[in-house]
Amino acid sequence: MISSRFLLFCLLLFVCDTVRAAEEFYARGPRTRNGIGKYYEGREIAHFMSHLGAPWLERGTREKEERPDLLMQALELKPGMQVADIGCGSGYYSRKIAQEIGNKGQVYGVDIQKEMLVILRKNMKANSLTNFVAVLGEVDDPKLPEGKIDLALFVDVYHEFEFPYEMMLKIAKSLKKGGRVVLVEYRLEDPDVPIKLLHKMSQAQVQKEMKRQPDLKWVKTVHTLPWQHVMIYEKK
Ligand SMILES: C[S@@+](CC[C@H](N)C(=O)[O-])C[C@H]1O[C@@H](n2cnc3c(N)ncnc32)[C@H](O)[C@@H]1O
Repeated sequence: MISSRFLLFCLLLFVCDTVRAAEEFYARGPRTRNGIGKYYEGREIAHFMSHLGAPWLERGTREKEERPDLLMQALELKPGMQVADIGCGSGYYSRKIAQEIGNKGQVYGVDIQKEMLVILRKNMKANSLTNFVAVLGEVDDPKLPEGKIDLALFVDVYHEFEFPYEMMLKIAKSLKKGGRVVLVEYRLEDPDVPIKLLHKMSQAQVQKEMKRQPDLKWVKTVHTLPWQHVMIYEKK
């Protein structure tokens, strides 16, 4: 008969293996000004933007600088969709999405800073929008239901993930079959984009990291935005 000690030993081995497998993706290195000293595929992960920066997300010049209208077109939203706005911040995009998908749809506004969710709720209320739920995520878990999401949007957030591999794995699980992931990142290739280096990403780097994801495949990259790449993936 198998003893309970042996079973416990096997369980410990399994847990250690899983932790080691996840750790192998990452490396430690010099911590630069806006980074956390943790590297993924050669890229230093950026420190997340504090909730004190929320007014910058709502700045009046954003419409002209980033052309969110073009991003909204690229999302191809339909009424009734279930959309996750990951790293929603003040809800700049959550509001636009909620208006577009209507009352039969729902926005999951996910952030790791509860202060951001307070701002999100206030801004949704000011716009009389109720078709959303505010979700307090963890650094390695967006806390979304499995198989429910049509589209997960990441505007200016992926590069801040402390656990990008684990986050994207869980996001893929939250998608319906054929559900989409849309990564929007400031273009590192363009020196004229006036954003801190660690808060920009090249297309090649995004592709390199996303190739690690077993459940997602690249569909297309949209090049219509003035400052950002829009990279679209689909659940296999
Ligand atoms: C630069 S802001 C972008 C906010 C919003 N997407 C926008 O474009 O207006 C990045 C946000 O991502 C959040 N964030 C960072 N890591 C996260 C994670 N693992 N899960 C959810 N949110 C995260 C930060 O707290 C911050 O509010």
